Amino acid sequence: MTRFCRTSDNACMPNLAIETHGLRKVYKSTVALDALDLEVREGEVFGFLGPNGAGKTTSVKLLLGLTRPTAGAGSVLGKPLGDRDARARIGYLPELFRYQAWLSAREVLALHAALAGLPSARRHAEIDRVLEAVGLTGRDSERTGGFSKGMQQRLGLGAALLGDPSLVILDEPTSALDPVGRDDVRGIIREAQARGSTVLLNSHLLGEVERLCDRVAIVFKGRVVAAGSMTELLGQPSVRLQVSELPADRSTLAAFGPLADEDGWLVIRPLDPARIPDVVAAVVALGGRVHAVDPGRRSLEDLFLTLARGQDAVLDEVAA
Ligand SMILES: Nc1ncnc2c1ncn2[C@@H]1O[C@H](COP(=O)(O)OP(=O)(O)OP(=O)(O)O)[C@@H](O)[C@H]1O
Ligand SMILES: [Mg+2]
Repeated sequence: MTRFCRTSDNACMPNLAIETHGLRKVYKSTVALDALDLEVREGEVFGFLGPNGAGKTTSVKLLLGLTRPTAGAGSVLGKPLGDRDARARIGYLPELFRYQAWLSAREVLALHAALAGLPSARRHAEIDRVLEAVGLTGRDSERTGGFSKGMQQRLGLGAALLGDPSLVILDEPTSALDPVGRDDVRGIIREAQARGSTVLLNSHLLGEVERLCDRVAIVFKGRVVAAGSMTELLGQPSVRLQVSELPADRSTLAAFGPLADEDGWLVIRPLDPARIPDVVAAVVALGGRVHAVDPGRRSLEDLFLTLARGQDAVLDEVAA
């Protein structure tokens, strides 16, 4: 990730791919977005979450310059909202996607590659690359009118990835996909990040977001109510184990991280969740018997529901 140092305090801060201050959108009497303050760092996968009608798609449209803000300001890739040069460096999968039914998948991608200004010499190889990435190799000559919804969404994702955009904005990229497709998309997004793209992802599938995103913002009624990394929002990952017959010498377990005894549970905190199977194997190797394993961190879904209920309580109070 590229970084710059502020000359005033010499503190190194990540460059921001997206920055908004008090961004607001009102349609007649509907406040679609109240006042959005958002920072997305260059190179991260950022989850943009919120209930139906919170203003996520409206925010995306404002970031893309597809609609103008009623108030507030923002920048994308260092340029003001709607800037043409910045737009040329953004890949976008819309929430409601539909492609020209009479065109083949390859023709749709060729159209997008041309619109994105990709040099013609690069187009063929680039289209092959994204077809492969989204699992449509071999289906590229079929008309999209005959595609299932999931295949159309894969095609849209491919179009958003053409030319390795600096910023990829995906508005619910897995809404039409089966579990295998969703897993594929996680890999595709990680690959896009590895190739240097920043990814802004809007999704209701919080388990997926938790696994994939570096940081998230949760929006209620057009305002960010929580933002940060998973550790900042959910606490340190840990594991809680219910174990019996464990010998007194637990030094092999202490090698995984600090041990604690909490309400009869053996807790290791912090612990990378990927190491949980190794911890269980180590307990068994010591002669211990494992009765229960709890990954021991609050889930993003739990945080979201708590925030949502809190919002409802505040609204009820106002109404009373
Ligand atoms: N073009 C429009 N005209 C009038 N109202 C609109 C328009 N677009 C959005 N809205 C309203 O603004 C609010 C926010 O809508 P938006 O589509 O941004 O929500 P969202 O967070 O993307 O929801 P979802 O999770 O259902 O996709 C809603 O009340 C919606 O009805
Ligand atoms: Mg939406």
